[in-house]
Amino acid sequence: MTLTAIIGGTGLNHIPELEDKLELSVATELGEVNVVKATWQGCPVVFLARHGNPHKIPPHKINYRANLLALEQLNVTQIIAVNAVGGIHEAMGPETICLPDQIIDYTHGREATFFDGEFRALDHIDFSHPYSSAMREKLLMASQIANIDVFSQGVYGATQGPRLETAAEIRSMREDGCDVVGMTGMPEAALARELNIPYASVCLIVNWGAGMTQTPITMNEIKAVLESGMHRVRNLVQTFLSM
Ligand code: HPA
Repeated sequence: MTLTAIIGGTGLNHIPELEDKLELSVATELGEVNVVKATWQGCPVVFLARHGNPHKIPPHKINYRANLLALEQLNVTQIIAVNAVGGIHEAMGPETICLPDQIIDYTHGREATFFDGEFRALDHIDFSHPYSSAMREKLLMASQIANIDVFSQGVYGATQGPRLETAAEIRSMREDGCDVVGMTGMPEAALARELNIPYASVCLIVNWGAGMTQTPITMNEIKAVLESGMHRVRNLVQTFLSM
């Protein structure tokens, strides 16, 4: 049976469309994780608010390992991660949506693996293609059915945060090939791969990367885009579930 987890990021602490909701605290070897079991479009889903609800856990303090373990314990079979990001590619401005196909990880000091030789024996996973191509294709089909414009690929640059980047960091990330920038894409994607759970990300671009416009980035502008754009992300996920 398919059991889809949705990991909601900034601007997606809860999903109003969920039905039959059951709030659960899942005990894992690495900590407690709060999730909501529910149905959406008649499909069983697990919703996990990455930053907590209300939003308070900063990106570098999220217990990514416990979150992924909890989803594994609940027998989740696929994960859709929703990420609010900054746009670096000139076409990926605020309000656009990108289904990334690659990642560059600039984070540091995070517990980034289960295979650390302590929790689990050392192992090296293949991560050439970090996101599930089957899920990405299905999300792309869902976007066509729901008539929602998306960029079908992009490179997600994961930064440490919680501060935003400098203009030079964004220039350098563009030279590296990054199209969008966010703070939570890693190690989440790698941990999902370590547990062999197919994982894809839907990125809502909520601001231009630092230095790409003349004005500073404000939380007010980000919040406005989250409010106007997140319903399209929910619509996309809902269509994906109904297929
Ligand atoms: N940088 C990093 N993370 C983000 C941004 C950004 O500009 N916008 C939303 N999340």
